Amino acid sequence: MNANGTLRHLLSLENLPREVITEILDRAESFLSVGTRKAKKVPVLRGRSVFNLFFENSTRTRTTFEIAAKRLSADVVNLDIATSSQSKGESLLDMIDNLVAMQADMLVVRHSHSGAAHMIAEHVPKGVHVINAGAGSHSHPTQGLLDAFTIRHFKKDFSKLKVVIIGDILHSRVARSQIHVLKALGVPEVRVVGPQTLVPESMSTMGVKVYNDVELALDGVDVVTALRLQNERMEASLVPSAQDFYQNYGLTKERLALADPEAIVMHPGPINRGVEIASEVADGGQSVILHQVTFGIAVRMAVMSLLVDS
Ligand code: CP
Repeated sequence: MNANGTLRHLLSLENLPREVITEILDRAESFLSVGTRKAKKVPVLRGRSVFNLFFENSTRTRTTFEIAAKRLSADVVNLDIATSSQSKGESLLDMIDNLVAMQADMLVVRHSHSGAAHMIAEHVPKGVHVINAGAGSHSHPTQGLLDAFTIRHFKKDFSKLKVVIIGDILHSRVARSQIHVLKALGVPEVRVVGPQTLVPESMSTMGVKVYNDVELALDGVDVVTALRLQNERMEASLVPSAQDFYQNYGLTKERLALADPEAIVMHPGPINRGVEIASEVADGGQSVILHQVTFGIAVRMAVMSLLVDS
């Protein structure tokens, strides 16, 4: 945050004031209709240059950041990291200096190292904004915000909700960011559930209830988020097999029936059908998974517009 209370970078949802979160959700609401127009553009970022720097793979986040920036009329550059001069030994900060020399206004960064976006934010001059688009297992703030937007859209009031997050909590930046935003917005009960190897007891320090029994954890909840196994972050195999995980923790129709009948099903994607979620649930009437993707554009427009106001 700047000294005047405005937001210069978006790096994490930890300690982000409730008023700022609500301001982003409200702005996103106002940007939602832009996507339904024939001419899907507003001039908010006209003349600004946004650089997408994705050091890890992405479908949803990278593409929706690009669409969001273009809908705000920014000029967008998607750096192809694989063919960049990083492969010739250029350091991350030297690369950033060069993008700043190209008069970048905003850098959208996804990196496997939790501290990469913070390091870049500390390095860039005033006037350049950094958005964390997913950092290691640590945080994915715009995903947390679009999750909150989706919940508010379907459930209206956060103050009585029971929410459960199922799966690989240990490696999940999505879980951490969702917990931070829901706690800030006053959700009274957030549960996390998965095998002991994937749900650290220390999660309870974040104010959530830790479960290992998925049937108990689903009982009466209003919102269910399923998470995939992040095999790319596991140094050793932490579940016997994908089939075993599905048998014990997969979100099936029978298990979903334990939740409130009006419960919504969310997933940040990519989904692995038959591992963390059954196809009939992913494609079923309670699933809002593709709404999350659409809402992600408006939420990212809101974040970018808020940062340039600072
Ligand atoms: N939810 C999410 O971060 O998806 P991508 O990895 O496709 O960006």
